[in-house]
Amino acid sequence: MQMLDGHVVLITGGGSGLGLGLARYFRNEGAQLAIMEIAEEKLAELKAEFGDEVLLVQGDVTRLDDLTACRSAVLERYGRLDALVGAQGVFDGNVPLKQIPTENIPALFDELFRTNVLGYILPVRVFIDVLDENDGAVVLTSSVAAYAADGGGLFYTATKGAVVSLVKQLAFEFAPRVRVNSVAPAAFANSQLRGPKALGMQGWKQSDIPKDAFVESFKQLAPLQELPTPEDYAPLYAFLASRHNKVMTGTTVLAEQGVLNRAVLTATGVVDHV
Ligand SMILES: NC(=O)c1ccc[n+]([C@@H]2O[C@H](COP(=O)([O-])OP(=O)(O)OC[C@H]3O[C@@H](n4cnc5c(N)ncnc54)[C@H](O)[C@@H]3O)[C@@H](O)[C@H]2O)c1
Repeated sequence: MQMLDGHVVLITGGGSGLGLGLARYFRNEGAQLAIMEIAEEKLAELKAEFGDEVLLVQGDVTRLDDLTACRSAVLERYGRLDALVGAQGVFDGNVPLKQIPTENIPALFDELFRTNVLGYILPVRVFIDVLDENDGAVVLTSSVAAYAADGGGLFYTATKGAVVSLVKQLAFEFAPRVRVNSVAPAAFANSQLRGPKALGMQGWKQSDIPKDAFVESFKQLAPLQELPTPEDYAPLYAFLASRHNKVMTGTTVLAEQGVLNRAVLTATGVVDHV
């Protein structure tokens, strides 16, 4: 028996990076899938890869009318939903606060919080009744940036911290039937996470970072050394999305290659082994 046999799963932001890796893994684990994605060109690629096997819904997860249409499409095709997985996001460009023109701050705040926070709250509200009927699950995406400085700038970091808090509150409100958790990755390959429009950086993508330099810097940072693929995170998400999880709710699973488990004395060279 596979982990997601009998589970209908909706992934928001499944057009590339993490969400796409999760979709591939979930399908192999027996899930019936729906993907909601904003970018038309990515939907065309999804169609080429998955054909009619996966329900593809074009839409913006921060817009209620798009979500209502998505809900109708999911229920029409599958008649149920067992898990909602949030995987969309936008980055803030890692720009220090002092370097952000003050007049851009409100728009930057709105853009980051809209996609990274409202975009996780709204779908939960729209699908909570069907998730409740099926003893369902919600799995959202935080980041190591919620736990340590410099995983992004102030705005990205604040949105990822908000995810840690909101899963606690949602888990409380939706217990005992719906389990709500999140995963906090450090970094992964094949991401197209984009920069903020509010700073004119929407053309920047994480995939623009030269791959070798990215892999090398991550090796130095992470005790486990490898730069993971999105699929490497998928077993965690699959477990949290499945009814096999009877023991976790309100939790954010730090899956950060040991990045936060920093060496202190010997790493600085101040104290060697005695
Ligand atoms: N890239 C990393 O190294 C990293 C590390 C930690 C956490 N994360 C988080 O993982 C998640 C996935 O990031 P990724 O790197 O896979 O990015 P990505 O850009 O490759 O994938 C996100 C997808 O979401 C879509 N999307 C964006 N806004 C949307 C909206 N409003 N409605 C519907 N779809 C929308 C994008 O078009 C894209 O296809 C994000 O929440 C990100 O913050 C990423």
